[in-house]
Amino acid sequence: MRSLTLALIAAIVACSSAFANSCQQFSASTTMANGVPAAQWRTDYPIKYPDARVKQTWEFFDFHTQPIDYMNAVLKDARTSFRISNRKLVGTGQEPWWISEWLDYGSSGREPLMGLTKERGPDPGDLSKTSRDGYQVWAVGFYNRAGAAVLGDVFDEPCNPSLPVAIKFPVGTASIKFLFTDASPDEVTYLQGAPEYDAYIDPLGSGVSAHPAKERSSRPVRLLQVDISVKVRGSSETGWVFGTFVWIGPPKGDRLFDNLVPVSLQWGNDPEVYDSSVKQGWINQDLRLVTYGWDKRPTMGFLGRANGPADNIRSSCLSCHAAARTPRASIGILDNRFDMNDVTDTKKVKAHVDTWFQNIKGGQLFQPFEPAASALDYSLQLEAAIFRMCRACQTGDLHGSTPNVCRTSGLYNRAICSAPIEEGTKRELEMMPPPRQ
Ligand code: HEC
Repeated sequence: MRSLTLALIAAIVACSSAFANSCQQFSASTTMANGVPAAQWRTDYPIKYPDARVKQTWEFFDFHTQPIDYMNAVLKDARTSFRISNRKLVGTGQEPWWISEWLDYGSSGREPLMGLTKERGPDPGDLSKTSRDGYQVWAVGFYNRAGAAVLGDVFDEPCNPSLPVAIKFPVGTASIKFLFTDASPDEVTYLQGAPEYDAYIDPLGSGVSAHPAKERSSRPVRLLQVDISVKVRGSSETGWVFGTFVWIGPPKGDRLFDNLVPVSLQWGNDPEVYDSSVKQGWINQDLRLVTYGWDKRPTMGFLGRANGPADNIRSSCLSCHAAARTPRASIGILDNRFDMNDVTDTKKVKAHVDTWFQNIKGGQLFQPFEPAASALDYSLQLEAAIFRMCRACQTGDLHGSTPNVCRTSGLYNRAICSAPIEEGTKRELEMMPPPRQ
């Protein structure tokens, strides 16, 4: 089956310019919505897992004591794979990086030009002291060979993905995610002179609000942030290390990787730390007053934990990602209601930290008292993929039998996907907020 699927994908890739969705019973890909050829990222997932005994280049550094070297070693792997061409981020065609299936549906589904999905819209004062409201952030994320082999197992049957009770990414897995924004460089001054890329995004000023894909138009965006994650060898707080870079001008070298400056790296959530004495991460102090250090954003993440400029100060990289499960827990992946004026209220801070900043080992379930079909080992892409696929089944955009995981997770319970439903209701369903809140 797998080889048949691969042959099919190869045929599709060869004869059309779109990466499309590999599920033949689905024809509502947002990469098709704007009538332009879709980006050609890889979904021909590797069949064989690489030998996990072979050390990756970054493993020669200790992330606790050499965070910058560690992060740069991960980035180095991507340097030869991605470049800017024709106002787009492109791969070599043979880059050892793969995207996830099923992120191309709904109001935050992949746009065609770079395959970007819509992310959380930053709050005013998030990206810089003077950044205003209404800006959009769009991103595309990839897994390396080890991670993509897991995607291959999951999406062996693209219309009926299979998820074990606990997904386990192998040691050596790395993921990289490029985040772009339409924020003005007049306000976010470190983006001045940054190369422009084109992407089909929502109307100007939309912020996080949802729009149907056909309302998108091609507008310039700039690279803001590059996120990385790595599954580590041996025991550690969580089994993962998450880190982020920010693009800082003026442009130099390749104007892509050569401008990336490490912002933060995190290996634990500092459970039970209710003040700013966090230790399970590293923050680049040189970026004080550049990416943090003002009233609205005194720190990158909650009480000094790691996060990127596009991320919510109430969270951290690991706190959101530790909540990856299908279905999502009823409290979601982040509590946006925490009032940042309450950071001195010990009771409220304790409740927030104890809920969100645990050290959950990859494969363990967040909020285990709520049943789940699968713990997703920190992969929020897999979570978004399954959620969107089940939504497509519910709205009648995916035809035929309901994928098993939709039923086991309770996301959609009928045996057969809906007949196409009324436009109004469908729109409402499609417009559910993007997953990164
Ligand atoms: C508010 C929650 C949230 C925070 C905080 C967050 N992320 Fe994510 N991240 C997501 C979601 C949702 C996705 C999947 C959807 C997508 O890629 O559009 C994702 C995807 C990713 C991916 C792609 C692989 C995967 O795990 O799905 C990487 C790598 C990543 N994030 C790294 C980071 C790093 C590094 C940080 C901190 C600097 C961070 N994230 C902070 C929500 C978050």
